[in-house]
Amino acid sequence: MAKKLAETIASSSAHGISRAAASENKLLRVMWILLFLICLAVFLKSGINLVLKLQKSEMTKKYQLDQATFVLPDLYFCPINPYSGSYPFTLTKEEADLVNSRIKQLIDRFGELYDVPKSILFHAFLWTPQVQLSLPFDLLAKYLLVRKEESVQFAAITDDFVAHNVDVEAFYNYENLVCFRLILSDKLKKMIMNPGSTLKLRLSTDPYLAELNFTGHPIQPIADSNGNSVPFLEWHPYRYYEQLRTSGFTMLIVPPGAYPSLRFEESFHMSPGFEYSVQLKMTESTCSEELHDKFCLLETPPVEFMNSLSGKRERFNYSNAACYYRNVNVQVVDEIGCQLSQRPSLWEFRDYPHCSNMSEMTAATVKRMRKAGSGRRIELETLTQKYCKTRIPCSYPIYSTSYSFGKWPSAGSSILRYFAEYFNRTSVSKAEAPALARVSDIAKQLQMGDHSAHLEGIFHSYVSESMLSVQITIDSLLSPQVMLAWSYTFADLLADTGGLLGLYIGCSVLTVCEMFELIYICVSLLLKRRSAKRSSSRTGDQETAGCDVGEKQALGGENAEEIELRS
Ligand SMILES: *[C@@H]1O[C@H](CO)[C@@H](O)[C@H](O)[C@H]1NC(C)=O
Ligand SMILES: *[C@@H]1O[C@H](CO)[C@@H](O)[C@H](O)[C@H]1NC(C)=O
Ligand SMILES: *[C@@H]1O[C@H](CO)[C@@H](O)[C@H](O)[C@H]1NC(C)=O
Ligand SMILES: *[C@@H]1O[C@H](CO)[C@@H](O)[C@H](O)[C@H]1NC(C)=O
Repeated sequence: MAKKLAETIASSSAHGISRAAASENKLLRVMWILLFLICLAVFLKSGINLVLKLQKSEMTKKYQLDQATFVLPDLYFCPINPYSGSYPFTLTKEEADLVNSRIKQLIDRFGELYDVPKSILFHAFLWTPQVQLSLPFDLLAKYLLVRKEESVQFAAITDDFVAHNVDVEAFYNYENLVCFRLILSDKLKKMIMNPGSTLKLRLSTDPYLAELNFTGHPIQPIADSNGNSVPFLEWHPYRYYEQLRTSGFTMLIVPPGAYPSLRFEESFHMSPGFEYSVQLKMTESTCSEELHDKFCLLETPPVEFMNSLSGKRERFNYSNAACYYRNVNVQVVDEIGCQLSQRPSLWEFRDYPHCSNMSEMTAATVKRMRKAGSGRRIELETLTQKYCKTRIPCSYPIYSTSYSFGKWPSAGSSILRYFAEYFNRTSVSKAEAPALARVSDIAKQLQMGDHSAHLEGIFHSYVSESMLSVQITIDSLLSPQVMLAWSYTFADLLADTGGLLGLYIGCSVLTVCEMFELIYICVSLLLKRRSAKRSSSRTGDQETAGCDVGEKQALGGENAEEIELRS
């Protein structure tokens, strides 16, 4: 066996060790063996470093320009203040009474549910959001929220001096109460991708208009027993101290078919009194192949949300937001028994109450909610965000914008004409848009010249507080691609190990196979010898020759260049 070992070492493709075997000089031989061992140690150390590097590997991004084609996003326009400043002031007595009685009921319900002693100084503004989020959605939509007829004055794609109207529909949701979404046919989608075409919108924030033909049946303020109250004009579903409220719109830019989440999707704020030119840009985010199904999802099932107004099921494409909403609710529903407030409702949780809807909550869930506290909820949200980071779609568009803006409209006669003739151009009736109807009348009066300075002031302040214009173009039909990949992969490890093997011990994967072959031969020789000994102890000496024969056979016909290790 020693012979075999020597032979293998001598013919090994690992350089140093074969020299040790070949060398006749004892000193040289020792030196070569030492050198080999040193190189082996260095190699092992570097190899361990590489393995550690693989373990600690981080995500990197690689940019490639003009690699992906632009995909048109879905566009949503969400009023920052979802309450109308006009409709709720034109309600009939019956309508106003209906809303007011519901508000009264909810204020009483708050006292019951949260067990608030009347003596406690507890300002009404703390629970106005709760009352608003507990009102029946159809009541909100019908009497209190902004409407398309008043808010969207114009939406069209202009292309070669022709304007094609774009349909807009209200999208009611638990997150912002109401948003407006553009509905683009395939033809219009193609049209907006043409260089030179622009999507134009003229929006109104529908602010309070003192000159409105007020019916005298107001919405009651939300009041507490200490005489504090929050008037309707200061309501906001999620803001508490918002005395000086901002108005305007949030433009949401959402990957096609995905849920329009204000928290997760790209958004862009626009204030009244300005015109915005927005360029849409896209970057395609993709994951390299080794991340598929580990870091990202190749198959992304659609997600079902519940429409807040109709209670119907609505299907959306999978998105990071959908992952988050689902998984945070799985845990919150499990621990507390209600769905997180201010978040979209998923269809699968439709039987659970919303944590801030007092019409759905019971005293028991309120108790559990209080016990869990807000700390636990924040913890769950953080956990979920981490979890969803490794469940992104393997390829999805990321949108961004670049924009410029200027004061708009300039005070001139064209703005008077715009409003004076507003109803000649649109199919919306005056009854559907009471504020616009009133402004149109004022504009007519101003045009005729018989008016007070007061009326002119009202007109101009209304225009600058309500109107905003946005022109959207597409930056480029080719978009850059971002490739997510591990900074160091297993393939890199193999290549580097190969390099080190070659560098330090001058061998390759095949050498490793030689080693295996050697081990195999040695083991089989040992086994043969043992069985030979056993049989010889039984039948005497004649069998040892058989052993030699066996050995020779095992060595095969390779005896031509046998080199022996003599020591
Ligand atoms: C609150 O819950 C009631 C009862 O389910 C429902 O009718 C109402 O629309 C909800 N309100 C909001 C704002 O979601
Ligand atoms: C205001 O409304 C009342 C009743 O709804 C109507 O009689 C009156 O003509 C209106 N005034 C104006 C200026 O539109
Ligand atoms: C997303 O949904 C739209 C329909 O709304 C569909 O045309 C599109 O193919 C979907 N995209 C993905 C990536 O699933
Ligand atoms: C707009 O319509 C009104 C009647 O509703 C009419 O008196 C007026 O002349 C029209 N204006 C234009 C410019 O067509």
